[in-house]
Amino acid sequence: MSNRKKIVAGNWKMNKTYSEAITLLYEVKDILFKSKKNDGVLKIIAPPFPYLHDLHEASKGIRNIYIAAQNCSSEEAGAFTGEVSASMIKSVGANYVIIGHSERRIYFKETHQDVRKKVDLALKHHLSPIFCIGESAEDRKENEQFEVVGSQLTDSLFHLEPTEFSKVVIAYEPVWAIGTGITATTAQAQEIHLFIRSLIEKKYGKEISGSTSILYGGSCNAKNATELFLCPDVDGGLIGGASLKAAEFSEIIHSFPQ
Ligand code: PGA
Repeated sequence: MSNRKKIVAGNWKMNKTYSEAITLLYEVKDILFKSKKNDGVLKIIAPPFPYLHDLHEASKGIRNIYIAAQNCSSEEAGAFTGEVSASMIKSVGANYVIIGHSERRIYFKETHQDVRKKVDLALKHHLSPIFCIGESAEDRKENEQFEVVGSQLTDSLFHLEPTEFSKVVIAYEPVWAIGTGITATTAQAQEIHLFIRSLIEKKYGKEISGSTSILYGGSCNAKNATELFLCPDVDGGLIGGASLKAAEFSEIIHSFPQ
């Protein structure tokens, strides 16, 4: 096994009221506190914006648990009604921010340029981006997954200095697998993860490519996490639906080979 950070991140999306969110976090904490297994795995929770601060406070006391926002503005500050900036997110205690999720790219028409600006602002304000890339079903049908994933990576991240790039976590999430119950096979996941790592190696060298965590996302759950996490280039998961249940999310955290 590599010495890369192992990470399980829960993307709660637009789910849970405030009290449900607090309850879920306490349930997860309770299970993790009792078990201690895989203490070293980084656990990241990405709740909706209004809960960031309180969940950060409530998460204290468990090793290696961090809070992430699900998005940030591509603007620094000012008259952008409804937007939430990277500096605001940092100021309430979050350490990570998901950027470029396919739901943002598809429903909110975020472009490579938009997500690139978000990455720059996140890093400026000391947030680590969890940068999402992944091809659509159509792309895969046309065998264009390498090209699509490659350009998402290079267009929005490869302008970064090596010290900046080393703070980024990559999440490979094939769009056809998100929320569909169809998971990429271990062969498909490993193939793309290795491809991503090889592009990073070409640009930033072996040391940085070898230490970049690349997560898999898309219908990852307690049943398939173990086999996915056994793939040599899969360093954990970005979990949607299955992160909304404390027992299942904890089981995924416990799925890393010891
Ligand atoms: P899913 O979502 O686990 O529900 O497929 C993953 C994600 O969108 O990050």
